Amino acid sequence: MAIKDIFDRPAAPRRLLLCTGPCCDQKGEATELLTALRARLQAARLDQEIVGEASCVRRSCLGKCSGEPLAYVHPDDVWYHDLSVDTLLTILRDHVQDHRPVAEFVLEDDG
Ligand code: FES
Repeated sequence: MAIKDIFDRPAAPRRLLLCTGPCCDQKGEATELLTALRARLQAARLDQEIVGEASCVRRSCLGKCSGEPLAYVHPDDVWYHDLSVDTLLTILRDHVQDHRPVAEFVLEDDG
């Protein structure tokens, strides 16, 4: 699905899935990222404000192993890479909540 098509989809709850499978979490980086994200959300009391009806979920392998922590937004079928806590917060706010994909961090489909 092209990013432009996502803007035309009817509003539906999006879910951010953060992969903590064996490739994405080789050195514990994905688990650290999730822990840091949850701490930031709790510290800022942003859980309800940012996430709203959507959610951020820890998942084991999402089937697109590339050796870096990856995240996936369902049902838009958009993958994100180069994740940091700030990047995840942006994705939660812009894509999951406001349905505007963050093109800068979208993992381009190679196939
Ligand atoms: S371990 Fe993350 S996609 Fe497979």
